[in-house]
Amino acid sequence: MSVFNSTPPKIKQYHLIKWLKDNFLIFSKKNLSLLKLNSERDKNYLLKINRTTKFVVKISNPLESIKLLEMQDELLIILNQRVSIKKYIPKKIHSSIMTYKDELGRKCYVRILKYIEGEMYARIKTSDKLQKSLGFFLGNLSKEFQSMGNPSSFRNFQWDPSNIDWIDRFVNVFKGDQKSIINNTLDEYINFFIKNKNNIRYSLTHGDANNYNLVVKNNKIIGLIDYGDMIFAPTINDLAIALAYALMNQQNLYSTLKNIIKNYHQQFPITFHEFFSLMTLVKCRLIITVVMATKQRNKFPNNKYLSISEKDAWSLLSKLDKINPYVFIFFLRDMCGYPVINNYSKIIDYIKKNQFSNILEFDLNLVNKTIIKLDSASKFSNIHKKHNPQIITKKINLFLKDNDSAVGIGLYKEKRNIYKGKNFLSLLNPKIKREIHLGIDIFVPPRTSILSPLKGNVFILKNNNFEFDYGPTIVLEHKIDKEVVFYTLYGHLSKKSLKKLVLGQNINKGEKLGEIGNYPINGNWSPHLHFQIILNMMGEKNNFPGVAEDILLSMWSKISPDPNLILNIPSSFFEEHDEIDKIIAKRKTLISNNLSIAYKKPLQMISARGQYFYDYKGRKYLDCINNISHVGHSHPFVHQALMKQNEKLNTNTRYLYKIMNEYSERLINKFSKKLDTIFFVCSGSEANDLAYRIAQTFTQAKDVLVMDNAYHGNTNSMIDLSPYKFKGRGGAGKKEYVHIAEMPDGIRGKWKYSDADWVKKYIFQVKNLIDNIYNKKRTLSCFFVESILGCGGQIFLPQNYLKEVFKLVKSKGALCIIDEVQTGFGRVGNKFWGFEEQNIIPDIVTLGKPMGNGHPIAAVVTTKEIANVFNNGMEYFNSFGGNPVSCAVGNAVLEVIEKEDLQNHADVVGRYLLNSLIKIKRKHSNLISEVRGRGLFIGIDLIKNFKNQPNEKLATKIVNTLRDKGILLSTDGPNHNVIKIKPPLPFSKEDSDFLSHELNQVLNSL
Ligand SMILES: Cc1ncc(COP(=O)(O)O)c(C=O)c1O
Repeated sequence: MSVFNSTPPKIKQYHLIKWLKDNFLIFSKKNLSLLKLNSERDKNYLLKINRTTKFVVKISNPLESIKLLEMQDELLIILNQRVSIKKYIPKKIHSSIMTYKDELGRKCYVRILKYIEGEMYARIKTSDKLQKSLGFFLGNLSKEFQSMGNPSSFRNFQWDPSNIDWIDRFVNVFKGDQKSIINNTLDEYINFFIKNKNNIRYSLTHGDANNYNLVVKNNKIIGLIDYGDMIFAPTINDLAIALAYALMNQQNLYSTLKNIIKNYHQQFPITFHEFFSLMTLVKCRLIITVVMATKQRNKFPNNKYLSISEKDAWSLLSKLDKINPYVFIFFLRDMCGYPVINNYSKIIDYIKKNQFSNILEFDLNLVNKTIIKLDSASKFSNIHKKHNPQIITKKINLFLKDNDSAVGIGLYKEKRNIYKGKNFLSLLNPKIKREIHLGIDIFVPPRTSILSPLKGNVFILKNNNFEFDYGPTIVLEHKIDKEVVFYTLYGHLSKKSLKKLVLGQNINKGEKLGEIGNYPINGNWSPHLHFQIILNMMGEKNNFPGVAEDILLSMWSKISPDPNLILNIPSSFFEEHDEIDKIIAKRKTLISNNLSIAYKKPLQMISARGQYFYDYKGRKYLDCINNISHVGHSHPFVHQALMKQNEKLNTNTRYLYKIMNEYSERLINKFSKKLDTIFFVCSGSEANDLAYRIAQTFTQAKDVLVMDNAYHGNTNSMIDLSPYKFKGRGGAGKKEYVHIAEMPDGIRGKWKYSDADWVKKYIFQVKNLIDNIYNKKRTLSCFFVESILGCGGQIFLPQNYLKEVFKLVKSKGALCIIDEVQTGFGRVGNKFWGFEEQNIIPDIVTLGKPMGNGHPIAAVVTTKEIANVFNNGMEYFNSFGGNPVSCAVGNAVLEVIEKEDLQNHADVVGRYLLNSLIKIKRKHSNLISEVRGRGLFIGIDLIKNFKNQPNEKLATKIVNTLRDKGILLSTDGPNHNVIKIKPPLPFSKEDSDFLSHELNQVLNSL
């Protein structure tokens, strides 16, 4: 027989008072009164002296073991010495345990404690403050218990939630929902406690911090009474037991859990593995409550205390039973700063590193997309109206058409007010709805094929057909290794999609999974795919939540991270942006109209990386013309270098800083020995302007020899040296000090490939020009020439041309200036500088565009001799040129070129592309006269039907058609018939294939 079966002590109060007076000095001759207190198996009284001073007299059940009572006395003394909790612990009054005979003549042990004056937790309307103070106190209590112990605490005890195997015997006493709740809890006990029991900490515990043992004053816990259930058990038992009662009658389970657990955790950190069992222990304790109540009620029908919590326990159990146990585990871990699941980082890293294939039959990034908002401001949802998918679909389709978009995108983490019904109420706080979207929606027409972006196995095939659910749903399981898996979910499919697959089936990357369903079978939604990543199925076998309550969003976003990790839509697409018409209109009011805008259909780029641009419709464009973004758009290494230096120091060259010397040395090393002195400036135009000024100072002359069709910059001086500008629209014509060399264009120049000695003729023309200058008593300051003629139409100067012309120029004491602004820094592949192929050493080289990968840095490189002459007393000062930030950027660009072996890459990929283009030329020799290039600097000369007549119309058509295909090119040359190709150097063979394929397609279609 145990204390639970034995009748509690039977006592006559007058007799007990007399006994107390006789045996305790403090009570003798005092006016004593007794008031019965609740107890399960003992008899407890509130004892008052003169109606004021209060004690608790505890008369134990006759079967109570003295050892346990001695343990309580001993531990109470220790607890009363612990600073963090002593004020909560009742004080022992008796010095030794005495015996008292009850009415039935049974010996009962008596103990007397100081009464803690306050209200019982159960009787108080709870508050955040009270709950927090409970967590705080319990945390400290658990902490103190770590260093306490008593042999008698090692025992089995029916109220211990970590030991409920005995409940098995009582399952059949219950029926219906109650029986299934008990069975579910017993299963959970095995899976979430027994299997985890070696991973958690054990210690002495109070064992019964229920709401009738917690004393409250001023909304704070001030005491914990009743130490009769002390037991060596899982440390978190005390927290679980307190929660079991504190959660009763709480509508907002979320805040109660948060208040208590967070404060407990702050005092005494719960471990990652303990969270796995905590809420199961809560449920186990509740099951004990209801089973004990039923059991004891039969034996002691008059003791109402025995079933005091029964109703509330059942009501809480039925709430908790509906909540997936993992929700608690993950939410609590997340709240306390743990990763929600074991392998979170491993899975996320894996996903981030992987390349996924398309989810539709085309690349989502090669079409225009528009965001379909379903938030409270959405034009597609109206919570007050009856849901009508037909009307919504029409609206969405119209909206997509107006936005020239093939696909609509519904947002991850969007708060939506479209989910109706009790299924969408939060189980942790029914005042809150689950309305935050955990997937990405892809709005495409019904029957559009859905492909698996990665290899996997079919894990769920199910028509989840309650209102506003997914309808036909597929979930795939993906293995990272033997132990680690994750899942992807595809919702709102057609019914047919479920029939074609079987559970467990292997699915290859890119394999068709199913197709988009239509309303009403797709959950009665506008046709779209709901795509979601799931890192842990939380034991679900049929369905998985696609929306979450905002209070749990932090946790849910770790279980279902952004699906864009797999879809890879550029993140800039999700940012707010203006419509293109609005931007153009505003620009026209603010900016001069002689800034042109590329393409018939202008582009609004939002972001760029490597060789790709991303526009505001989330479309990817292969950039084939931006030689400025030389090492790739927004290169992270260059960006970091800029940020680091900018944070530290940015000033001008009148101060000393190491980075200028460091960078200059690195740059100079790229030139032959003679070219050893640098001037830093901010643009190619400025570099050329300075070069021209240096030449004038050095030679004391003004006349200049320039190449026809050349462009050297936008400054006053450079416009005058650029036939491309001064001869063109709005140009003022040639100045008398400017002399134009014929452009050695073997196709359309004055002398052609077919002419005998055609190169010599061009050289001779220069000789005549120079002679003429001097015949007119003028003197030449310099010859300005690009190493490859960009604006001339990607023209490569013939062998020996420059060598001979340089001789002529130098013979007159004039300088030879190479404009390397377009071509330098390894672009041409076989050499670092474009001019190096010509076997010449210029007097001055100007650098620009690629030098800072988009940062405005440019330079003039010359000889010490020339620089010294220029140093004629007038200071050369440039506010920005050569500042430390620009130097750090330039230095980083050189480092990237070296580290990423970009010069060699340009050589290899350039040859590959040139070969493909030559093949296209052979096939379309009626339309292409020549394909020419070095590395990634290439031109395609387009003609009209075998004649060498320039075909500007075709060039423009190709550029615009390829723009629509996602490839950016432009035209150049005096006849605008040359397509120029000069992409960022990371341009790959795949990009080359894409470009060649699309170019071929356009030419085939003519
Ligand atoms: C050959 C050449 N030189 C100079 C310049 C002028 O450079 P920036 O635009 O940096 O002033 C350009 C610009 O296109 C150019 O192509």
